[in-house]
Amino acid sequence: MDISSVLQGGYQHPVSRSWQNRSELTKSMFMYPILISDDPDSNADVPSLPGQRRWGVNRLEGFLGPIIQKGLKSVFILGAPTKVEKDSQASAADDPNSPVILAIQKLRELFPSLYIAVDVCLCHYNVHGHCGFLHPDGVINTEISVARIADIALAYARAGADCVAPSDMMDGRIKTVKQKLIDAGFGNRCTLMSFSPKFATSLYGPFRSAAGNAPAFGDRQCYQPPVSAKGLARRIIQRDAAEGADIIMIKPALFYLDIIAEATRLVPDHPIACAQVSGEYVMLRAGAATGAFDLKTVVIESAQCMVRAGANIISTYFAAELMEWLDSSM
Ligand code: PBG
Ligand code: ZN
Repeated sequence: MDISSVLQGGYQHPVSRSWQNRSELTKSMFMYPILISDDPDSNADVPSLPGQRRWGVNRLEGFLGPIIQKGLKSVFILGAPTKVEKDSQASAADDPNSPVILAIQKLRELFPSLYIAVDVCLCHYNVHGHCGFLHPDGVINTEISVARIADIALAYARAGADCVAPSDMMDGRIKTVKQKLIDAGFGNRCTLMSFSPKFATSLYGPFRSAAGNAPAFGDRQCYQPPVSAKGLARRIIQRDAAEGADIIMIKPALFYLDIIAEATRLVPDHPIACAQVSGEYVMLRAGAATGAFDLKTVVIESAQCMVRAGANIISTYFAAELMEWLDSSM
């Protein structure tokens, strides 16, 4: 055989195989999305997300303490209220007694070094369930939407969040949030992670069932970009980096690995995150349950592929299990 045909000498041993990675999976790459209930004692099953629960603020210590012990460094807080009063101003989002704010404060107090990232959006608290406010004709009213989103982001930063992540996909939100954080003295206290882009995928379904944030009419296609839009995705990445995002996050992850790779070329000096969303989680779990593949093996594979594409931060509902799995595999 010709010299150039023989590659297997380079990965004949577990150690030489591990050197084929540009970057190993480490526990600090993973962010755990936590659904926060408005019942402070909740520890409720989430039928659409088997294995995940809707947590009350009083349950966070018992739930997260052991996972943090095993190496979890970061969480991603998402509101999943069940009895919230929705109104035209999304007032409940930054009410001082909002479960999200209480959860941030509680986690800050319980786990001083935990990195707390928080989803920022209007959809859970808006009467109509859209991620922005609307003009009377139903079109997004960008200016008042981004101003309100910036206020909510600042409220979460004040409550102790290390990172705010606007998930609304309004134009100009990153610039507005960044300026608001800077003006209030949080420019150097709080990371701004931008969903750039967050696609209009069918993979958010299980989360919407859990969090009750589906729009009452219409869909999100005028703000979440279409799944096949590569050029638009590139423009969103560049725009949001230029508007002051500290981290660029691609959402969802698995079907969008090419966009992760694009981001590493377009903004090579930014950390690149990706979100393995609710539908991806359910898909892998359901496949494993049929015996199609082993859950641990396939989940680790999925994370390795995101890292191969260029991500160095992964938000995933498998984060707790990964803390166990990475111990036993290394
Ligand atoms: C909306 C929001 C979504 C998710 C979190 N916040 C998407 C949507 O409903 O359009 C999805 C998270 C997941 O599926 O894991 N701002
Ligand atoms: Zn939203």
